Amino acid sequence: MAEAADVVTVALDALLPRTDGPESRLVEAMRYAVLGPGRRVRPYFALETARLFDVAERSVLRAACALECIHAYSLIHDDLPALDDDPVRNGRPTVHAAYDEATAVLAGDALHSAAFEIMAHPDTHPEAVVRSQLVHKLALAAGAKGLAGGQMLDLLGLGADLRTVARMQRMKTGSLIAFAVEAPLVLARATEAERHALLGFAHDFGLAYQIVDDLTDHERDTRPRRGSRSEKRGAEKANFVTLLGREAAGERVEILSQQCRAHLDLFGPKAAYLRASVDFVLDRTT
Ligand code: IPE
Ligand code: MG
Ligand code: MG
Repeated sequence: MAEAADVVTVALDALLPRTDGPESRLVEAMRYAVLGPGRRVRPYFALETARLFDVAERSVLRAACALECIHAYSLIHDDLPALDDDPVRNGRPTVHAAYDEATAVLAGDALHSAAFEIMAHPDTHPEAVVRSQLVHKLALAAGAKGLAGGQMLDLLGLGADLRTVARMQRMKTGSLIAFAVEAPLVLARATEAERHALLGFAHDFGLAYQIVDDLTDHERDTRPRRGSRSEKRGAEKANFVTLLGREAAGERVEILSQQCRAHLDLFGPKAAYLRASVDFVLDRTT
């Protein structure tokens, strides 16, 4: 995974703009957000899924970079005072804290555009119809029925029951995780059976990933900054751990990770790394 993360970081560094012009503040903020620390979980799953098929490395790498740009944009905007008002992410000041709010809004905007610029470029795939499918699926994952819609549900704080929380999770984080396997599926022109298996894998993994996140927050008691909007909302916010309890949440992660591995049976030994990485990623102590 560390190797994949390095490959993706080098590729992102090459793909993101560099400029000495007066707009360099914007470009710096974009690069600060994207090239900072991060496990690159989504790109990893894209690259590893592509190994199950005969997919050109350059194609999947560009798709993974586009996906990571969307992820980075979503975090910049998520941390803004208007949303979660968080000054720190991964041990560093968030973009609006390191630069300023207006720059953070624009850096998010520009990364969102950069994602589609990278994806739509002929280097991603020689056939326009394949590129168009990738662009379409990424747009769906990021939009009102995906990430942005999930963020809206989160802000509204409607999650009082398991179904509502699960739906929000599926939109907010599940849709980008699903795109990580969807991109190689498109590039490989995979069969229905392969699609079914891998989308099932992404669904169960996304859910488990969120439950682990809730469990980790619970354990570390990483409460948001006092007085911040996320703290104020946190008080009344339900999540998988508050709804299920710690024990049942842990059991659910175990069941989901078993299901994830079962979805991969179709691919036999080719999926060994992918299979092994499920527990590795879900074990937040690593
Ligand atoms: C992160 O969501 C942003 C998106 C998934 C779009 P959260 O607000 O729930 O997570 P953290 O704690 O800021 O990473
Ligand atoms: Mg949030
Ligand atoms: Mg947040």
